[in-house]
Amino acid sequence: MEANPFREADLSLRNHPESCVLVIFGATGDLTHRKLIPALYNMAADGDLPPGLKVVGFARREKSDEEFREGLEKLNKEVSRQGHNDDLWEQFSQSITYHESNFNDADGYAALKERLDEMEAEGASPNRMYYLASAPEFFDDILLHIRGAGLNQSKTGWCRAVVEKPFGTDLATAQHLNQVVNDVFPEKDTYRIDHYLGKETAQNIMVLRFANNLFEVLWSNRFIDHIQITCAEPLGMEGGRGGYYEKSGALRDMVQNHLLQLLSLIAMEPPADLTADGIRDEKVKVLKSLRPFEDADDVGENVVRAQYTAGTVNGEEVVGYRREDRVNPGSMTESYVALKVMIDNWRWEGVPFYVRMGKRLPKKGTEISIHYKQGPNVLYNASVGAEAMPGNVLVIRIQPNEGISLGMRSKRPGPAATLQPVKMDFRYQTSFGKSSPEAYERLLLDAMAGDATLFARKDEVETAWKYVDQIEDAWHKSPTPPKMAEYPAGSWGPKEADELLDHDGNDWRRL
Ligand code: BG6
Repeated sequence: MEANPFREADLSLRNHPESCVLVIFGATGDLTHRKLIPALYNMAADGDLPPGLKVVGFARREKSDEEFREGLEKLNKEVSRQGHNDDLWEQFSQSITYHESNFNDADGYAALKERLDEMEAEGASPNRMYYLASAPEFFDDILLHIRGAGLNQSKTGWCRAVVEKPFGTDLATAQHLNQVVNDVFPEKDTYRIDHYLGKETAQNIMVLRFANNLFEVLWSNRFIDHIQITCAEPLGMEGGRGGYYEKSGALRDMVQNHLLQLLSLIAMEPPADLTADGIRDEKVKVLKSLRPFEDADDVGENVVRAQYTAGTVNGEEVVGYRREDRVNPGSMTESYVALKVMIDNWRWEGVPFYVRMGKRLPKKGTEISIHYKQGPNVLYNASVGAEAMPGNVLVIRIQPNEGISLGMRSKRPGPAATLQPVKMDFRYQTSFGKSSPEAYERLLLDAMAGDATLFARKDEVETAWKYVDQIEDAWHKSPTPPKMAEYPAGSWGPKEADELLDHDGNDWRRL
């Protein structure tokens, strides 16, 4: 039998999650129903759930354990990646209970403490993981009461906090939240979720770069002309999302976290080692090297903000952003943002990173494309003109159809030397034959294993806010703010975003 080189060379790195009691604050919300419980269920289906794991849902609404489980089951049937098996659910759901309390009621936390102690006395794990999945305005209260009730300490086990986004709404609020969290949990026990880091393809960026020398030796301003990061969504403000979004906007909602995380993974230097801090040290260095904006005009030249107007998405007529439910009719919140980001360091000097995110675009997709420089204008380039043919483009498809493709030129069969763009394509589904785990599965397992590699560190979050705050300030505090552009729902964004690239002689890549 042929040896598995990965096993032989011990290249298969795997974390070992430890059992715990997982307390979810905000357990009646969408995140718990759509993401967290289905992730745990799928882990159970894969045999990955640590034995004896218990879940306690903490929320304000009055509910029995049974009612809570029924609501979870209904959603699990709809969204579970591996379908829903009644027997497995029956077994799995027995580990889930409900704890009713207001977030600011000290007695509710004291009762929770008693309950966890009882569970422990009956044989449950002494490890505790507190998941803050509530609306962010309750984070302070929850954390302070956790400390007040002494829930942040366990005599024989560990206590960790997992904090959902949004992690603040600007640098000042993020610093405040970091302080409150770290007063209750040390940084090493704090896990700030950025679910993009849990996506298989985002994790594969480092493998692509540092386990394939071919790419890494060409990974710099000597060979790369520019890089694009696009995140497109057909969704608008369904399900009352407008209320949250109005206070957030595309820049805070997706760029400050997910897209700057992807950018950091693409741009970072090789880390000293594969430890959480080894990797996060390098990502922070990228964020610290982002070129600051000089003033509001500079922001206006390099950042486009826009709102969708009425249009058609996937054959369905939809209203414009300002007419969405819970959105102010005079709203100045952007549903689209495109930025030209420059990184002032040795490797990336002169290479623009174009980053864009939009709601109500024609289709869902997140991808990163690396656009290599053209060769000299001789030989084939001389006859067709270097401009006439696209240069090599390496595309990392984060989702859907996860994979990596390399665009190159080939001779078309026949007597003439006709060049044609072709693709070398790697698809996860074809190569590995099974669907990738959901981001939350990986992240929950990692938090249970004490591995913070895929979680944002305090300084990463703060440095990203510092960058984003300059843009928000120019938009909302400058006497001469850059304008709000428009794009019809179902289009690829405003013309101003095309002009941003056109100015440099580039075009957005179509997903
Ligand atoms: C969330 C944002 O963090 O990410 C949403 O708040 C966005 O607005 C979502 O739709 C996108 O996540 P995914 O995994 O579907 O790309």
